[in-house]
Amino acid sequence: MSSKGKVVCVTGGSGYIGSWLVHLLLDRGYTVHATVKDLQDERETKHLLALEAADSSLRLFQIDLLDYDSIAAAITGTVGVFHLASPNIIDRVQDPERELVEPAVMGTKNVLAAAKQFGIQRVVVTSSTSSITPSPSWPADVVKGEDCWADVEYCKQKGLWYSLSKTLAEKAAWEFAKDRDLDVVVVNPGFVFGPILPPTLNASMSVLFRLLQGSTETYPDFYMGCVHVKDVALAHILVYENTCAVGRHLCVEAVSHYGDFAAIVAELHPEYNVPRFPKETQPGLLRAKNAAKKLMDLGLEFIPIEQIIEDSIESLKRHGFVS
Ligand SMILES: NC(=O)c1ccc[n+]([C@@H]2O[C@H](COP(=O)([O-])OP(=O)(O)OC[C@H]3O[C@@H](n4cnc5c(N)ncnc54)[C@H](OP(=O)(O)O)[C@@H]3O)[C@@H](O)[C@H]2O)c1
Repeated sequence: MSSKGKVVCVTGGSGYIGSWLVHLLLDRGYTVHATVKDLQDERETKHLLALEAADSSLRLFQIDLLDYDSIAAAITGTVGVFHLASPNIIDRVQDPERELVEPAVMGTKNVLAAAKQFGIQRVVVTSSTSSITPSPSWPADVVKGEDCWADVEYCKQKGLWYSLSKTLAEKAAWEFAKDRDLDVVVVNPGFVFGPILPPTLNASMSVLFRLLQGSTETYPDFYMGCVHVKDVALAHILVYENTCAVGRHLCVEAVSHYGDFAAIVAELHPEYNVPRFPKETQPGLLRAKNAAKKLMDLGLEFIPIEQIIEDSIESLKRHGFVS
């Protein structure tokens, strides 16, 4: 697919991953409708307006995931949609249904309904490994991948509200695609790290920030590998442009344990207070290199973990989050 002059919409364009996706799309000649939650808040807009080609090829729209009309206004006039906007909170929440599940699920339904209304060719939905990995009955000798689904009841029992929100939202997307005959393709990234474009810290970069401060949290039900933010953005473009891409796409540089990640951070950066973890921080998770085979077959060469860590820490320093 040639991108020149094509107009696409990125929901959550102001976010950590969204702003990288907007950046790469503009570089490739797309015109982008990017959505933000509050057009008056410079923290959501300034880094986008500073991107090269923003003057000529970027339009910002204010949306609320629960407000269909605001979403429809951002999607009108586009041919493709990347749906990233979703609350990304993995810490404790007061009201999980209102803060996480409802905006994730209703937002996805609203975006897909608007895409259908305006004859969008293809919608890329950003799901997560969180809709894969809280799956305790998965056999320990089989690598978790696109064919593994998070266990909804387990998520509810353990209060894994973010995982629940991503799982129900992805399920809603597949149901809509089937019932309403819409071309939907899904990317399932692991923990995303790498250079930060917005001025604020998102949930995954906060995990690294806290690790550098000595946090002993191991995310037993969440982690199954990490990925560079630029690779996640590129994965979205690859599955959009390659019509042969179908279904879910695991997006991690390897299936691995959080302790593996922390050990490499500690080795590369002994100046920080990174704790030592036991070998198995994700009980029952089988490690695997080259697990994201579907994306690799589309041409994605994953940035290695050492580079992911170096780029992330350099960015945390540049933004003044760590010294
Ligand atoms: N980061 C990761 O490790 C990771 C891994 C797997 C999947 N994901 C998924 O990737 C997507 C982006 O995540 P991220 O890390 O880039 O998070 P982020 O920086 O927090 O970005 C989330 C985006 O969604 C928007 N948003 C949230 N609630 C909204 C609402 N009610 N109405 C309108 N917009 C709303 C935010 O708008 P504002 O900026 O205006 O608040 C922001 O643009 C999410 O779907 C997340 O679940 C992330």
